[in-house]
Amino acid sequence: MGDKLALGFMVPLARDGGVPVFAQIRDRLIAMIDSGEIAAGTRLPPIRALASTLSVNPMTVAKAYRELAERGHVRSRGSGGTFVLAGASPPPAGDAPPGRPEPQAVPLTARLFELARAPGVIGFTANYPGPAEGDVVTFRRRLSELAQDPESDRFFRYDPPAGRLCLREEIARMAEEQGMSVRPGEVMVTAGGQQAIDLVVRALLRPGDLVLVERPTYFGALNAMREAGARFAELPLGPDGPDLGRLEVLLAAEPPRLVYLNPTFQNPTGATLGAAKRQAILDLLIRRGVPLLEDDHCPELRFRGDPVPPFRALPGAAETVFYARGFGKALVPGVRLGFLLAPAWAHRRLAELKSLTDLQSNAFMQGALASWLASDRVATVERLVRVYGARQQALVDALRAGLPPGSGVSQPDGGLSLWIALPGEVPSGDIYYRAVNRGVAFVPGAPFYATAPDSRTMRLSFGLVPDHEIREGARRLCSLICDLSDPSMHWASWAV
Ligand SMILES: Cc1ncc(COP(=O)(O)O)c(C=O)c1O
Repeated sequence: MGDKLALGFMVPLARDGGVPVFAQIRDRLIAMIDSGEIAAGTRLPPIRALASTLSVNPMTVAKAYRELAERGHVRSRGSGGTFVLAGASPPPAGDAPPGRPEPQAVPLTARLFELARAPGVIGFTANYPGPAEGDVVTFRRRLSELAQDPESDRFFRYDPPAGRLCLREEIARMAEEQGMSVRPGEVMVTAGGQQAIDLVVRALLRPGDLVLVERPTYFGALNAMREAGARFAELPLGPDGPDLGRLEVLLAAEPPRLVYLNPTFQNPTGATLGAAKRQAILDLLIRRGVPLLEDDHCPELRFRGDPVPPFRALPGAAETVFYARGFGKALVPGVRLGFLLAPAWAHRRLAELKSLTDLQSNAFMQGALASWLASDRVATVERLVRVYGARQQALVDALRAGLPPGSGVSQPDGGLSLWIALPGEVPSGDIYYRAVNRGVAFVPGAPFYATAPDSRTMRLSFGLVPDHEIREGARRLCSLICDLSDPSMHWASWAV
């Protein structure tokens, strides 16, 4: 064990204040466990012994061990020691195609989920509304009505993969309100917007295919595309969406297999693309025969300004645009339903993939959602807009007053997130744990970049932060960033 550990730590730990030392120890141990250098059942060295070998504080090793345990790599038996668990490591990547990304030990979403609920931490991490504002009460009523309906037996059978007709009809009606002319038969019900994205990615992309994405963009879509072996070209994003000239250059340099855009209240920046620019982009894509995946995750959460029609509503869009939307982001969090509108040429392949994945989405939930959409959606959206519009303003005001000069804070016209660019050289990933220590959490910007992350960025989402914690959360974050930006308290000199 000692020899193997010595090998794993042959390259000295970096102490330049970049990656925290405990994280370096944790990641090297994970690498050794994953590669089989440290076998399941092995007892790791006692904390003090490893700390002395590595000349670090025992607290640093203890923190690394604690994270290994939280991620399921080891189990601590108190004074009995810390043991490597079986099955913690992914299988050897023998058959993986070259360039395939390494799976993350713990998905980012799981880490954010944990942090948002850590006791005493104000978690600016959830980009979806709280249950009270999303009005679970009315949804519960729809569920119990359906359960008591003598004809509800019809929901306890298998359905076609594209979903229940009653829900597809409601979705077609809702799409109509947004200017999209859709027949119920063209709607595919999915397990949220994420499954709609994943189905399109799997239908269209082969390993090595190029995808054009915004920079930065939603990491859930990036990960689905990475999993399919995609390469990325990035479109820098301004306040009104991607740069048109740059898009033309990129399309001419190498035609991509797919363009992915999140054009309204973009996650993470909140940017919304104007109507004229949408039409210009669509015309370009039609001319070049490149499909567009439009991710419209929360268009109803608009606090200011007029709605902009989705790409799918524009003339000529039906054969080029795949439109993905979920109901969890803005309406009923946790319901795990969404839908996909796809060009006719892709319907058959998408139905095959949906069947392969889960045969169909939960029929009973589809029934309840259909009646909720018909009866409760409009009132819920009005309430959400009122509550979250005020909450966004309070957060923007507190951040703009408290952050050091040179910080950028976006104020989008809607959505539940703000995008922050820090001044100077304060990497958001490095202050993440210090922020949690001070009782506030955010999402570091790095995962939102397909390549070369800009580490001075972060996303603050206020979906689950109640009104009375907004100011206090902003105060904790601003005071940390001000301290770290102060040259007399240079962050690189802070011990972990
Ligand atoms: C931009 C964007 N698209 C899609 C999704 C997927 O959402 P869901 O599957 O809950 O509909 C998310 C969730 O965070 C998102 O932020």
